[in-house]
Amino acid sequence: MQNFRFENETKIIFGKDTELEVATEVSKYGQKILLHYGGGSIKKTGLYDKVIKSLNDNDISYVELSGVKPNPRLSLVKEGIDICRKEDIDFILAVGGGSVIDSAKAIAAGVKYLGDVWDFFDGKAEVGEAIPIGTILTIPATGSETGDTTILTNEEGWYKRSMSHKNIRPKFAILNPELTYSLPNYQTAAGGVDIMSHVFERYFTNTLDVDITDRLCEGTLKCMIKNLPIALEETNNYAARSEIMWAGTIAHNGLLGTGRVEDWGSHMIAHEISAMYDITHGATLSIIFPAWMNYVYQDNIDRFVQYAIRVWGVEMNFQDPEKTVLEGIERTKEFFKKAGMPTSLSEVDISRDSIEEMAEKCVLSGPVGNFRKLFKDDVVKILEMAF
Ligand code: NZQ
Ligand code: ZN
Repeated sequence: MQNFRFENETKIIFGKDTELEVATEVSKYGQKILLHYGGGSIKKTGLYDKVIKSLNDNDISYVELSGVKPNPRLSLVKEGIDICRKEDIDFILAVGGGSVIDSAKAIAAGVKYLGDVWDFFDGKAEVGEAIPIGTILTIPATGSETGDTTILTNEEGWYKRSMSHKNIRPKFAILNPELTYSLPNYQTAAGGVDIMSHVFERYFTNTLDVDITDRLCEGTLKCMIKNLPIALEETNNYAARSEIMWAGTIAHNGLLGTGRVEDWGSHMIAHEISAMYDITHGATLSIIFPAWMNYVYQDNIDRFVQYAIRVWGVEMNFQDPEKTVLEGIERTKEFFKKAGMPTSLSEVDISRDSIEEMAEKCVLSGPVGNFRKLFKDDVVKILEMAF
């Protein structure tokens, strides 16, 4: 196990009706807030009305900025920064999914920075002072609710890039599993794939002696394997929705990666697909992960054997351990398929002609991933295997 520091200061408020506590939490940080949300799902579910009532009852004034799109865009972030400056906003409340939270984080980082907020994303500047943010999460998926990362798409050139800084980590995250009942199955499944992928990015490591995090990863994956099909079958199953929601946070709050080298190659490839084709994040991962696994497993057969046996209950084939590994990868793919997610690029109408460009952009700042460092040729091969 490697040396590590673990810090996660986000307060988590979990359970039924917890959204009613929002004003109490907000009032600890600000009196004039930016209420940031997406395309309107929060209005359909009634969550918007509850939030507004809670703010009004507590004399917290607000300005609204809606319209965050999945794979959030830089242009709306710039609009948000202008509003915050003009209106003297001292807190941002993000109500929605990872896209809304990421957009809020970028606004928070940009308000007090005089340059272009994209500078943080292409490494030209580091985040300084940020205004505080908090969130009511409506889709378990990205883990952005307690994370220090934001991922944006720059419409100029269609680059999707991330940046991380402790100053943009939300102060609080309100997680009420009932708020996820309204999710279409496709979004529930995409979120589920994302959660599992955040575990994979940590689980597939060459770091030795990491039993505790191995077991936590395996437990989180098994929880998803059990509960995702239940939530897809019974939309309003509180028990299953709760497990998934908490797993989403656990998978990406930093705990599962402690003491080990993480990978992140598959996410980097997946981001290029979303940037070019605006495809749901989880759908790019259900396509890329099985291909990546098939491409790299020979580098550390033991780890993939462990995955197959402990996570999927595959029986060990002592004569031919590779068969055990391949069965584990196949079961992963089948699980994604059964959940209604695509597992090949051809299913989402991507042209082979764009492989070169996606691979080129993916390694623009150098090779990606750590389990195996992936150069442009490797990314091309993985994308080809994903057809
Ligand atoms: O916009 P609205 O109308 O709210 O609809 C959203 C959106 O269309 C809908 N939705 C959300 N909650 C709902 C709901 N519909 C009905 N009922 C509800 N309760 O779901 C759609 C997807 O929302 P989005 O926020 O885009 O989903 P997600 O949370 O998966 O976020 C995806 C974004 O986060 C990034 C992804 O790349 C992508 O841009 N990620 C961020 C990470 C981070 N910050 O650490 C890590 C992840 O790996 C990921 O890359
Ligand atoms: Zn992800």
